[in-house]
Amino acid sequence: MNILAIESSCDETAVALYAGDAATGCGRILAEQIASQIETHARFGGVVPEVASREHLAALPPMVDAVMQEADLGWNHIDAIAVTSGPGLMGALLVGTSFARAAACVHGIPVLPVHHMEGHLLAPGLAGQLPAFPFITLLVSGGHTMLVRVDAIGSYSLIGQTLDDAAGECFDKSARLLGLPYPGGPEVARLARDGDASRFPLPRPMLNKDNLDFSFSGLKTAVMYAVRKLGGSEALSDQDRRDMAAAIEEAICDVLVSKALRACRQQRAPRLVIAGGVAANSHLRGLLASRGKGVELFLPELRHCTDNAAMIAYAAFARYGAGAPAPAEWDARPRWPL
Ligand code: KG4
Ligand code: ZN
Repeated sequence: MNILAIESSCDETAVALYAGDAATGCGRILAEQIASQIETHARFGGVVPEVASREHLAALPPMVDAVMQEADLGWNHIDAIAVTSGPGLMGALLVGTSFARAAACVHGIPVLPVHHMEGHLLAPGLAGQLPAFPFITLLVSGGHTMLVRVDAIGSYSLIGQTLDDAAGECFDKSARLLGLPYPGGPEVARLARDGDASRFPLPRPMLNKDNLDFSFSGLKTAVMYAVRKLGGSEALSDQDRRDMAAAIEEAICDVLVSKALRACRQQRAPRLVIAGGVAANSHLRGLLASRGKGVELFLPELRHCTDNAAMIAYAAFARYGAGAPAPAEWDARPRWPL
């Protein structure tokens, strides 16, 4: 089953071609491309929805051609088009879903709408088999921070989530307070390597609450006060920035790791997947490996942690590859619970 997949829910246009074997449940990526709009949005300090839609519109058609050429496949070899139909920016989603619908109509193939978060949840399947069920996924991106229990494909229970900011949002907003460019996560991680986290003791919100929820807005406020105390972001020295970045990264990762491991214990599911853009953070990966004794870790490849179309293809294959029919009626949904 050859699936052409399109992802355009936020600020990355991504296209992938995936060949799945329904008999074995395994498959491989034939070609994939990701075009990031980060530089365009960096000028504005965050994603501008209308700009994102226009960029997707310009990028998508040539990327589809390029991926099909790279895989040396024509439309007559494509069995279905998988597309992210939500959640995300409405205009951005409409570009991908409209393209998918039009191409599917012309070529007489089905469209398989995919939940963006299901793509992230199942991303480890791209590297081979999924973990045995049940497993826990810590989904940490710019818009979401959630702990999900996966009992089967399509059977997901939200067991913990953020009450305010997402972990990636906390990285991005804290970075902004330090005068760093968007997106802040990778910048904070880069500076943190040479920083001393102990210089700025930052709070670990909700760590002592015996539940699986998160809250990151208080941490961001603590960063704001610490920066103010030093005279504002312009007065920070390079070392101040490095130390503060290390303290921010340490605080966010400490909370994420503690709650994720607590989830594995409470749910008696000693298998943990981390997914979403923040899962690219190497300090987070290192902490999980050192503190997660007895828990088997599944870390998707870095390029499949951030937004990509291969994960959308795999989610469609996992859901529909066994012969489940494509939904007859569906729409792009900017808000869509998992
Ligand atoms: O999943 P993603 O690519 O997009 C969505 O939000 O759906 O995640 C982007 C988020 C941003 O907040 C970015 O700052 C964060 O992931 N991020 C990181 C790292 N790389 C990306 N945060 C911390 N460390 C990183 N290395
Ligand atoms: Zn995402």
